[in-house]
Amino acid sequence: ALQALCLPKLEPKQMSANSFQPRASTFKVAVLGAAGGIGQPLALLIKMSPLVSSLHLYDIANVKGVATDLSHCNTPSQVLDFTGPSEFSNCLKGIDVVVIPAGVPRKPGMTRDDLFNINANIVKTLVEAVADHCPEAFIHIISNPVNSTVPIAAEVLKQKGVYNPKKLFGVTTLDVVRANTFVAQKKNLKLIDVDVPVIGGHAGITILPLLSKTRPSVVFTDEEVQELTVRIQNAGTEVVDAKAGAGSATLSMAYAAARFVESSLRALDGDDDVYECSFVQSELTDLPFFSSRVKLGKKGVEAFISSDLDGLTEFEAKALDALKPELKASIDKGVSFAQKQG
Ligand code: NAI
Repeated sequence: ALQALCLPKLEPKQMSANSFQPRASTFKVAVLGAAGGIGQPLALLIKMSPLVSSLHLYDIANVKGVATDLSHCNTPSQVLDFTGPSEFSNCLKGIDVVVIPAGVPRKPGMTRDDLFNINANIVKTLVEAVADHCPEAFIHIISNPVNSTVPIAAEVLKQKGVYNPKKLFGVTTLDVVRANTFVAQKKNLKLIDVDVPVIGGHAGITILPLLSKTRPSVVFTDEEVQELTVRIQNAGTEVVDAKAGAGSATLSMAYAAARFVESSLRALDGDDDVYECSFVQSELTDLPFFSSRVKLGKKGVEAFISSDLDGLTEFEAKALDALKPELKASIDKGVSFAQKQG
């Protein structure tokens, strides 16, 4: 059921040729920050995956109850709980995919960058542990500001001598999930068919939905483009404001992160047909990290879908130029934080 819900759209030309059959549960997944607003529903969704054999939940608080609760679900994976740095080794050894939603979320009036001081240190500590105990794993960074925490993670991994840019991912799937939902609503389309690539980064104007590349092809008026772009960029704030101090997006984020985990596991399992948008080290632009659609394979990022950046509309080209300085500043901030600490 999870697969039916979470599978990203396949490349149309490859859809009919794809006769891939997943293997039985063989993969080990760890969630760091598993007792939080995102961590708990994410752990539940991962527990439903037929591809997972072990689910390791780590948090500094309240993780035992979450793991015990989940362990009663009659799905294949074994659920274990871990807490405190002395348990990093047992938690992380042999892990294939590690997901990091640890950190504080936004309150109304805050930007993602306001979280930098706290979350930068949390991500640094956790990625150091990943480097020590499962350097070969796919690393999914959810903790905000993603535009800075991913560069921090890269620097930490470099300092540890284990950086593999193909396996470090900033999770931007929620931007795609939102874009798909809002476009389908606006244009009365069947949700399952809609796929909008979202490029750039994961904060404010750095989130750039390429509405002109929507599949199936859709015609938008200039007003619709403007309105949808702004709504997708501010959708996180829509949730922060609606929750009025009780946190940011957790359920839709868990759904999006579970989709990205499932895609990664399918890629690790040998499925040759897996595409997702993610914020990764990239040469598509002059920025060192950039979110775009990538093809995932057993070794991580296998290819960048550069064609998404061809033939942009004037609106998109301008928005891309406008986002670059802000995204560059966030990347630089992350890099210099990690270099100062290291
Ligand atoms: P939360 O506060 O509900 O949960 C965070 C969890 O992290 C807590 O259980 C806490 O105990 C744990 N934690 C804190 N320090 C830790 C450490 N050193 N090691 C392990 N665990 C630690 O927050 P929520 O709502 O789950 O959000 C988590 C993060 O995800 C925030 O930074 C938020 O901004 C970000 N986020 C990212 C999105 C994206 O699209 N990438 C979307 C929504 C939120």
